[in-house]
Amino acid sequence: MKESEIKKKYETKIQELKTHNKFYFEDSSPKISDKEYDNLKKEIIKLEKKYSYLKSSSSPSTSLGYSPSKNFIKSKHRVKMLSLSNAFDIEDLKNFEKRIFNYLNKKIEVEYSVEPKIDGISASLTYKNGYLVLGTSRGDGTTGEIITENLKTIKDIPQKISNKDFPNNIDIRGEVFIKKNDFDSLKNNFANPRNAASGSLRQKNPEETRKIPLNFIAYTYGYFESNKIKKQSEFLNSLKKWGFKTNQYNKVLKTINDLDYFHKKFEKDRFNLEYDIDGLVYKINSLELQKRLGFTSNSPRWAIAHKFSADSAFSQIRDINIQVGRTGALTPVARIKPVNIGGVIVANATLHNEDEITRKDIRIGDTVKIERAGDVIPHVILVDIKKRDKKSKKFVFPNKCPSCGSETIKEFNRVTKKFDAVRRCVNEGYECEKIAIEKIKHFISKDAMNIDGLGKKVVEKFWDLNLIRFPQDIYNLDYKKISNLEGWGNLSVSNLKYSIDQSKKISFDRFLYAIGIRHIGIENAKLLAEYTKSIKNFMNFVNKNKLNDFLNIDGIGDTQINSLKKFFNNKLNYKVIETLSEILNITDLKLNKSGKLLNYTFMFTGKLSNMSRAEAKSLIEQNSGTVISSVNKKLKYLIIGDKPTNRKVQQAKELGIKILSQDEWLKFLD
Ligand code: IVH
Repeated sequence: MKESEIKKKYETKIQELKTHNKFYFEDSSPKISDKEYDNLKKEIIKLEKKYSYLKSSSSPSTSLGYSPSKNFIKSKHRVKMLSLSNAFDIEDLKNFEKRIFNYLNKKIEVEYSVEPKIDGISASLTYKNGYLVLGTSRGDGTTGEIITENLKTIKDIPQKISNKDFPNNIDIRGEVFIKKNDFDSLKNNFANPRNAASGSLRQKNPEETRKIPLNFIAYTYGYFESNKIKKQSEFLNSLKKWGFKTNQYNKVLKTINDLDYFHKKFEKDRFNLEYDIDGLVYKINSLELQKRLGFTSNSPRWAIAHKFSADSAFSQIRDINIQVGRTGALTPVARIKPVNIGGVIVANATLHNEDEITRKDIRIGDTVKIERAGDVIPHVILVDIKKRDKKSKKFVFPNKCPSCGSETIKEFNRVTKKFDAVRRCVNEGYECEKIAIEKIKHFISKDAMNIDGLGKKVVEKFWDLNLIRFPQDIYNLDYKKISNLEGWGNLSVSNLKYSIDQSKKISFDRFLYAIGIRHIGIENAKLLAEYTKSIKNFMNFVNKNKLNDFLNIDGIGDTQINSLKKFFNNKLNYKVIETLSEILNITDLKLNKSGKLLNYTFMFTGKLSNMSRAEAKSLIEQNSGTVISSVNKKLKYLIIGDKPTNRKVQQAKELGIKILSQDEWLKFLD
């Protein structure tokens, strides 16, 4: 059979599987027997094994094997479900602790709650007056899917708690997982226990979930009304008292060396556990300190996941492709002979950048060692030179953009005084096809416009079909045409239309992030939005060439300003924003009106005691105040610490700005 015929045969089977998945998982009314269904899945997997070029996101061999039901109702978490940043070695741990000390502006003795990191799926359980009233998946961290009935089938999850100490209103959070033995005896096609747990948990019919031996271990809380508990370890003990399972290996340790020692030991012992763990989680034990430290945009400052070393395998590089990212970065990717690494089939590995290829002298045809750790992208760690073909040639990195043919450059970094390792396409926008596609993918992503009916694959497909070229085209789609495309039915088209319509109302900060300006991530977009309040006002700064004013904003510097200038110098970028502001309802930034520092601006000079600038800033912002970075008319209070800059104090006096000592300020703040 020719490749095209094989592909066609494969596509047909995938399509068939999708149809039956819908009958089975969404309608809960299968039209074929379990055996026939299993055979269909097996045939698909057999084809994939034989022809490695076959790939589909709906294949039973990838992640879930079926798209989870769209029928779950969503629910916003009362407290966000964040993820953890990772540490891979003792250096990372030392830096983690250093960041904490910096934030607190002093060294203290800390105690860590150490907990095995089970590789499962997190879930949140809301209990009111002792009754389990709501159970949700993590979802995107802000909003989860309501899977209460499925969670209720798990024997480790209590549905009623009579213990009189149990809080009246609390979210208990933990991990749903499947034991290794149970996974082995399950006849399924999931790649690993984690995928099996995730798949089972999101069945439409809870009776299907009940058939899978799922477990639950509790480890933290979300919303917690009148929390009197002082330590994480104490909270873990309470969980046990209330009737939850907790990890028997949880413990409290004090120093980084102790953590590292325990990690080394546990890394060896972990294979004897009944379930997969991919590292240890360390949390600052004092809950008061946790509260002080708070969060960055997506992870707590007070906790870190110390991963176990990665699984690895050898394979051969078949080709090296250059991918062009949203910001023009050229990333080389090795296409390797597919290889199983720790239960996941890996066919691509990142080579990071041009310098990395040169340093390791990586060539097409080389046999290389590939490493994969949890959710981190697989990468090449070494080349087996002995196996290298004598005729092999050095890889020549292209000096033109493979997508649009433009010049590429390595930027000079003024801080490190070195040229970047990354080569970039000089295009700043939609002139380069690959950049344009990536920009649109970014535009629809969760933290941006959050159009969930429109995934990355769909964007690519719509691009190929000439349905979209710019973000605004999303709001002008030809739904009739789409409903005639293969794989699209009335239901999926109406879901798509719904999520696109929903996205039309968007807050200004998210919009600013969504348009994808380099160096303007979520945090910076918020800073800019807080400063300018509305899109209209923001565009005034752009139009009047007043972007330098943004240097006033604490956190915005030359890098961001230059990037903004470059972005708006491009006519197409400008036009995209103009058009989108007509289509969308971009809402002004809603301020937390309740804070007592609303409309107050502060600036610091000199060293504060017992507190870092970062913490001081966060305190002001929690109370709706603003911190700026230069003395001008807009400043209300200058807070002076030890050894302030005289010039700033002088300027403040001249402008009649009030000057506060740190103590006066803290009193003011109460
Ligand atoms: S604490 C903000 N504790 O790891 C605190 N998470 O990357 C985050 N996990 O989504 C959660 N064991 O699925 C916490 N003892 C533990 C954990 C744990 C596993 C998972 C959880 C979470 C992910 C964070």
